[in-house]
Amino acid sequence: MSSLPTNSSIVAAYRERTPKSSALAEEARRVLPSGIAHDARYCEPYGVYIDRAQGARKWDVDGNEYVDYFGGHGALLLGHNHPAVVAAVQEALQRGTHFGANHRDEVRWAELVAKLIPSAERVRFTSSGTEATLMALRLARAFTGKRKLVRFMTHFHGWHDHMTAGHHSHFDNTPTTGVIPGITDQTILLPPGDEAALEAAFAQHQDIAAAILEPTGSGFGLVPLRPSFLHLLRAETARTGAMLIFDEVVTGFRVSPGGAQRELGVTPDLTALAKILAGGLPGGAVAGRRDILDALDFHAAAAQGREKIAHPGTYNANPVSAAAGIAALTIVGSTDACARANAFAAELRARLNEELKRAGAPWAVYGTFSGFHTFMNPQRRAIDPLSFDPFTIEFRELSTIPKALAQKLRLALLVNGVDCNARIGGVVSSAHGPAELERTVEGFRAALAMLAAEQEVPAAAE
Ligand SMILES: Cc1ncc(COP(=O)(O)O)c(C=O)c1O
Repeated sequence: MSSLPTNSSIVAAYRERTPKSSALAEEARRVLPSGIAHDARYCEPYGVYIDRAQGARKWDVDGNEYVDYFGGHGALLLGHNHPAVVAAVQEALQRGTHFGANHRDEVRWAELVAKLIPSAERVRFTSSGTEATLMALRLARAFTGKRKLVRFMTHFHGWHDHMTAGHHSHFDNTPTTGVIPGITDQTILLPPGDEAALEAAFAQHQDIAAAILEPTGSGFGLVPLRPSFLHLLRAETARTGAMLIFDEVVTGFRVSPGGAQRELGVTPDLTALAKILAGGLPGGAVAGRRDILDALDFHAAAAQGREKIAHPGTYNANPVSAAAGIAALTIVGSTDACARANAFAAELRARLNEELKRAGAPWAVYGTFSGFHTFMNPQRRAIDPLSFDPFTIEFRELSTIPKALAQKLRLALLVNGVDCNARIGGVVSSAHGPAELERTVEGFRAALAMLAAEQEVPAAAE
């Protein structure tokens, strides 16, 4: 059932602009659950179907142009179709898509990861971020011989069994549908940023194998974390012999060329990587201390009398992904791409907050590095967008959106040429420039006016 009112002029305007997407969505629903391939692409009444993309823009099948803040779910720090990445992919395609063997590029790719990411003494490629966190946890358990995993509510680490409860539901750590209770019995789910709860958990449990978290806070800072929390977690894990795992699937090669760990000065034992790692193609990796990744090494495991962790994977270090990854990481490591994306996002957040202030909307745009999020104030607090501090809001409230209203704003933004996620947030690339900034601000202003016309926000002061 749609939560959108049928008499909304925003919905009508969206439908009017996107008839081909509508037709495709109808066809899709006959073969794909909800007509989609990734939950984050769910949109009511239907999402746009994209035909092509370039730089910071993309075009749908009806010919509408958008400033893109999805950024390939965060994979495209350099924007769509960076010429060096495209050339590397084309060159790799000529040579073959799968050799079923070792190849030169996987070595160069791993060397680049090891050069950029402080914790990466050894690298094992996977096909996705989900696989990377799964392997990181398994490595930690194998290395420590312990079982329990510390996790933080709202933090996302992919969709494998250990990581589903407590992401956006099941904060009581009961298993989500299809996951057996024995799995969640082995995880300790803590409120994010709560130092006392963290210390109590490490004091109470002697059998913690690892703690895993998104180092800039869940959802790339949707619920931000103070760096002091990372330092405490580093100290507690080191004191108890537990492994610290940074999930840098989003933040790796984005926050800085060396990820959040280099920027924030905390080195984990293991790091999960994906997205930018593979330059916009599928790929992931677990990187970390040599003695831990030795559990994947035939000789090292045998020499230590340990059972090796088995790790096949048809698309591990796929040659085309490797070529794209090498091209992307070379640029990330040798240019100011991360810094430019960070600077654009800071300006974007400031400009959008000015629009909110002008419109009298009690919401706020916030975020860190190259991300932004919109706090849509579900409890209708009195807030000033220009001085909003997300650390003053409890994590559940920060991650709650008034669904129908957010959905309307998202559609209104699409009608005005801006594509953001369902929480009215997104990521910025180094290809976003002044023209995208102005377009986004204009689109945001027009979208707020559409909401005002439906009495969803106060009308803007003239
Ligand atoms: C922080 C984080 N970890 C893990 C994952 C899972 O990565 P993948 O979608 O490549 O499986 C994601 C995906 O968005 C993510 O944002």
